[in-house]
Amino acid sequence: MTSLFKAALILSGAVNGVQAWGSLGHATVAYVAQHYVSSSTAAWAQGVLNDTSSSYLANIASWADSYRATSAGKWSSSFHFIDAEDNPPSSCNVDYDRDCGSSGCSISAIANYTQRAGDGRLSSANVAEALKFLVHLLGDVTQPLHDEAYKVGGNEINVTFNGYSDNLHSDWDTYMPEQLIGGYALSDAQGWANTLIGEITSGGYKSEAASWIKGDTISDPVAAATRWATDANAFVCSVVMPDGEAALQTGDLYPTYYNSAIGTIELQVAKGGYRLGNWLNMLYTSKVAKRGLEGEEDSASHFDLLGRDFLPKPRPLSRAKLARMAMEGSCCGTEEHRH
Ligand SMILES: *[C@@H]1O[C@H](CO)[C@@H](O)[C@H](O)[C@H]1NC(C)=O
Ligand SMILES: *[C@@H]1O[C@H](CO)[C@@H](O)[C@H](O)[C@H]1NC(C)=O
Ligand SMILES: *[C@@H]1O[C@H](CO)[C@@H](O)[C@H](O)[C@H]1NC(C)=O
Ligand SMILES: [Zn+2]
Ligand SMILES: [Zn+2]
Repeated sequence: MTSLFKAALILSGAVNGVQAWGSLGHATVAYVAQHYVSSSTAAWAQGVLNDTSSSYLANIASWADSYRATSAGKWSSSFHFIDAEDNPPSSCNVDYDRDCGSSGCSISAIANYTQRAGDGRLSSANVAEALKFLVHLLGDVTQPLHDEAYKVGGNEINVTFNGYSDNLHSDWDTYMPEQLIGGYALSDAQGWANTLIGEITSGGYKSEAASWIKGDTISDPVAAATRWATDANAFVCSVVMPDGEAALQTGDLYPTYYNSAIGTIELQVAKGGYRLGNWLNMLYTSKVAKRGLEGEEDSASHFDLLGRDFLPKPRPLSRAKLARMAMEGSCCGTEEHRH
């Protein structure tokens, strides 16, 4: 292989893959959500995004990962996760005040961008930014290792998957989903989404889907996002590392570990899409559609547009927060392969 060709491969791997849920997972979440949004919500979102194509949410689902990788977007990197400082596998839990950090986390960012997406005071560019963050972050929050501080969300747990040396985080984000689906193009995501929609409509998820959105209200986005993070974080103890870190390093994770994890990956991607569709419908009906209606008080005007009211009180930096800072905003080590 010429070194130029190799460099191009490495570069394309860095751009396409190795992101929070990889591009496949995020686009799949978006396609599932597109199925569940009302026609008014869809028309609003298409207008905001200036995209009337059949992939209007999937097209921007990984924008936030590309943005965080630029020097202009580095400030937003803490929005992609919450570092739950629990103790897996014996104890898993999320505590917003303990875990979010004063520069913000997925939960505060979801609250902020929910507020901003529905706020009539903002420019169309700001509303589009808010919607793009929401489409991405409702996906990230369902990935168990985006709700875990241990070893920087598993980024520092070196493992072997299907013959490749990589880390546990990137296997959950990218390589296990791609192993299941066999690609990461938008058409692969649409196909996976169709399968998951079938499971929700009339298959194995039918009886539980209502519980995925139970209690979700736009008026308390911190509570909803904390519930989603807590739900995903529980899998860190039960599925991601039920026997601790060392047990993951005794051999190739494919096929035994993969077989134990892939059902949870499918479930979490389905949940992300179903919740996102419902969240956007609620955002549209309770904020956007109400705006300008006579007699409706503009509740948005009570909020700080920078979302500072949503942040927990500052605390001294913990070891986990210092470890995250040492990664300088990057989520995943440079991957030198694609599986
Ligand atoms: C919307 O998209 C169209 C075609 O893709 C483009 O020509 C137009 O400039 C865009 N409008 C805005 C406001 O970005
Ligand atoms: C809310 O969004 C704005 C615009 O992107 C950003 O400047 C601000 O830091 C965000 N606040 C929180 C709490 O995420
Ligand atoms: C894990 O792998 C990375 C990249 O190959 C390497 O830099 C790091 O030292 C390894 N960590 C441990 C604990 O082995
Ligand atoms: Zn990730
Ligand atoms: Zn992300």
